Amino acid sequence: MTRKARWRGPRRPADNRPACRGFCDNLALVITRSGDGSAGDADYGTIGASYARYRQPDARIAARISQALGGARSVLNVGAGAGSYEPGDRQVTPVEPSASMREQRPARLAPAVDAVAEDLPFADDSFDAAMTTFSVHQWGDLQAGLREVRRVTRGPVVILTCDPGRLRRFWLAGYAPEVIDTEAQRYPSVAALRDGLGAPVTATVVPVPLDCTDGFNEAYYGRPEALLDPAARLSCSAWSFVGAAVHDRFTADLSRDLADGTWDDRHGHLRTQPAFDGSLILVTTRR
Ligand SMILES: C[S@@+](CC[C@H](N)C(=O)[O-])C[C@H]1O[C@@H](n2cnc3c(N)ncnc32)[C@H](O)[C@@H]1O
Repeated sequence: MTRKARWRGPRRPADNRPACRGFCDNLALVITRSGDGSAGDADYGTIGASYARYRQPDARIAARISQALGGARSVLNVGAGAGSYEPGDRQVTPVEPSASMREQRPARLAPAVDAVAEDLPFADDSFDAAMTTFSVHQWGDLQAGLREVRRVTRGPVVILTCDPGRLRRFWLAGYAPEVIDTEAQRYPSVAALRDGLGAPVTATVVPVPLDCTDGFNEAYYGRPEALLDPAARLSCSAWSFVGAAVHDRFTADLSRDLADGTWDDRHGHLRTQPAFDGSLILVTTRR
């Protein structure tokens, strides 16, 4: 496989079924990447343009990642995107296949290497540690990607992701079950991550702060009005796999329930709950 070659499923099935991992796994090998170089199941040439605006790294989540990286000086960041969570006090090597995402990286950060997790252009044991945030669910061949990350890393591998078994704790499951179903099929289990890394792991729930600055779906657990913004939704790639009808129905239902108090009757306590233990987890290899 050349550096730019990788597994890829279709952008989205013609009948609008979610382009989920289980579905993609049964498809043939296609060794191309999209126009902007996007390598995952989401097309960041389309949805990446406003990503950095809505997905600002959250300092409290960043602190947990930094703690998990321990004393590492050199850090590989795979699926680095616009640079969220890259620690400023370490020597970071970012890897990012999407041109649109690479272009959104601030000038203060190192330019990202155009490569994919499944085929990393680095020698064995090149880095003290590796990190990847909100990315593993998009890799076409998770196991190959994790093996590669392990190969090039001497120390801990730190993965910020979502536990598919915890996704339905979030009220969005009652309004847009298609989005939650899509996420549940895309996010790998902790066991799959452990198998790919070939090492024991520790998985810890990361509480989502009420004023979380990183706009993934659960970040809005206590601020439902924010999810009525179409650009906020599209900054969470699962929304790009459901049809316009789902967006329209969600907007109508949630707007109605906010206007007549139904949402607050059911979930209003979340507006002041300081943090939400949802599906966000930090998975770290044990030394
Ligand atoms: C949701 S974004 C997360 C970006 C950033 N890590 C963050 O936390 O904001 C997922 C990123 O993973 C990248 N990606 C998808 N498939 C990949 C692969 N096979 N190898 C490396 N990166 C990949 C995408 O291009 C995208 O930038």
